[in-house]
Amino acid sequence: MTTEMDTITSQRKMLSEAGYAEPAINYFIDKKYMGHLQDASQISEKIGSCGDIMKIYLKVNDQDIIEDIRYEITGCAGAISAAMAVVDLVKGQSLDQALTINDGDVFKRLENIPEKKHHCIQLAVKTMHRGVLEYRAGRAH
Ligand code: FES
Repeated sequence: MTTEMDTITSQRKMLSEAGYAEPAINYFIDKKYMGHLQDASQISEKIGSCGDIMKIYLKVNDQDIIEDIRYEITGCAGAISAAMAVVDLVKGQSLDQALTINDGDVFKRLENIPEKKHHCIQLAVKTMHRGVLEYRAGRAH
């Protein structure tokens, strides 16, 4: 009988063999910021060049600090691990700081993912930037 533990172990092995470093694998397995926020200040969406879709939920307070974030993703392991790393980098930061986070910051956090998956990092970052910019645009009206 295959237990959940066995499944996770074999998933870890597959990802590691594919070129995912330990932190990236942990982000993918834990998926701790997947889902939606009931009280989101902003919901934005972006479609990647691969056709995968990311939706971001941002909760922003009166001081323009991003208090919480969730992602909904139809995408690969690279997309999921990158998006989860984006949340750890951006949560608690100001809108301005969030806009300075780039692909390199996320890659450093993941330590390594396969080169073919670098566009997935881009999608996670661009989706977050879009969320911040659309939130600002909405507030300006
Ligand atoms: Fe589409 Fe990774 S292949 S997000």
